[in-house]
Amino acid sequence: MGTGSYLPVETVDNFDLYELGTLKSSFDVDKGRASLKDIEEVEDLSDSEVFDLWARQVTGIEMRRRLTPESGLTTEDMCAAACLSALEASGFGATDMDLLIAASLTVSDEVPNAACTIANKIGAPQLGGYVLNAACAGYVYAIGAAWSAILSGMAQRVLVVAGDTLTRFVDYDETQTAVLFGDGAGACVLERTEGEIGLMGPPAVGGEFDRTPLFLRGQKWEEEGGPSPVIHMEGGPRILRNAVVGMADVAQQALARAALAWTDVDVVIPHQANLRITRGLEKQLELSKGRVIHNIQRYGNMSAATVAITLDEYVRGLHGPVAVPSTIVLTAIGGGYTKGALVVRI
Ligand SMILES: CC(C)(COP(=O)(O)OP(=O)(O)OC[C@H]1O[C@@H](n2cnc3c(N)ncnc32)[C@H](O)[C@@H]1OP(=O)(O)O)[C@@H](O)C(=O)NCCC(=O)NCCS
Repeated sequence: MGTGSYLPVETVDNFDLYELGTLKSSFDVDKGRASLKDIEEVEDLSDSEVFDLWARQVTGIEMRRRLTPESGLTTEDMCAAACLSALEASGFGATDMDLLIAASLTVSDEVPNAACTIANKIGAPQLGGYVLNAACAGYVYAIGAAWSAILSGMAQRVLVVAGDTLTRFVDYDETQTAVLFGDGAGACVLERTEGEIGLMGPPAVGGEFDRTPLFLRGQKWEEEGGPSPVIHMEGGPRILRNAVVGMADVAQQALARAALAWTDVDVVIPHQANLRITRGLEKQLELSKGRVIHNIQRYGNMSAATVAITLDEYVRGLHGPVAVPSTIVLTAIGGGYTKGALVVRI
C-alpha cells in the first residue's frame, strides 16, 4: 500500500573512509596499487586515490551513508522514520496498523524489542510487534511473515520495516570488511487486496549453513576480553559465485510459486553486497525485457535495509519510469546463509 525509507545524513565516500579509524594503516597501498591492472600511470596516484580506485574495482562502492555517534540516533530511529514515510505513502496512520515486524541484526536494545520501540516512536505504543533476524534477507522474510499474518486473519494491516547500522560493528583493521557497509532503513505497509496487484504468491525461502561468509565475532563468553562485537565478511570466488547462484535460484522458486516466468518480470531488486555479484546476477538471468537494479555504488551493503530502500526508490521513480503494472522480483542472500525471494506487482 506504500513504501518509505530513511538514509542517514552523513555521506562517507572512499576518501572519507580512508581517514576513519585505523583504515589508513591497515590498507596495503602497494598491494592495492598492484591490483589496479587497468589503470595507467598508477605510480602517480596518491595513497587515498589508490584506496578509492581499489574500493571501486573490488566492490563497486563509491560512497555509503553512516549513522554517526554524534547524531544520537539508533537503528530504531531510522526504522521509525522509514515507517512514517511508508505510512504517508499508504494514506494510513500508525494506529491503523495491527502488527509491526522489524527485520534487523543491529537493534540497539534487545528489550524492549525494537518493534515496540519503533511503534512507540511513530505514535502507536499499543501496536504489537517483533523483530526477526535473517541477516541481509531479513526484509523478504519479514514481508513473508506479514503476508502469512494477513492470510491467517491474525492482522488486517501490517507495517514491515528493515533497518541496520552495521557501520557500528566495523573493525577498521579489516579493510575488506570496513569498505562494504552502509546504514539505512526501508519500510512498507501491507493490506489484504483482491485482484492483480500485491504479492503474486508465497515467498520462497531457503538456507545453506555456512558461518564463513558473514559473522559477528566477540559475542561469546570465550571471546570476552577480545574485541567488542565486530562484523566480518569473507570474499573469494566461491562466496561471490554462491551469492549469484543463490539469489538466482531462490528467485526462480518464487517465480514458480507465483506461476510466472522471467519474461513477465520488469525489475529485479537484489540484495547488494558487491557490484560484481549484482552484475553477475544480471548476466546469469539474461532478462529479455526486465532489468536488475544496482545502487551499491551510493550506499554500500545496508544488510536487511538494502532491498527495502531499493524497492522504495524504484516505486518513487528514482530508477527511471515505473511501468504500470510493474512485476518486481525481490531476492536476497545473507549471512547464514539465508536466502529469500518474492514476486510483487504494483
Ligand atoms: C570485500 C570483498 C569485495 C573482497 O573481494 P575478493 O574478490 O575476495 O578480494 P581479494 O582478496 O581477491 O582482493 C582483491 C584485490 O585487492 C587486493 N587487496 C585485498 N586486501 C587488500 C588490502 N587490505 N590492501 C590492499 N589491497 C588489498 C588483493 O591483493 C587483490 O589484488 P589482485 O587482484 O592483484 O590479486 C568481498 O569480501 C565481498 O564482496 N564479499 C561479499 C560476499 C557476499 O556477498 N556474501 C554473501 C552474503 S553473506
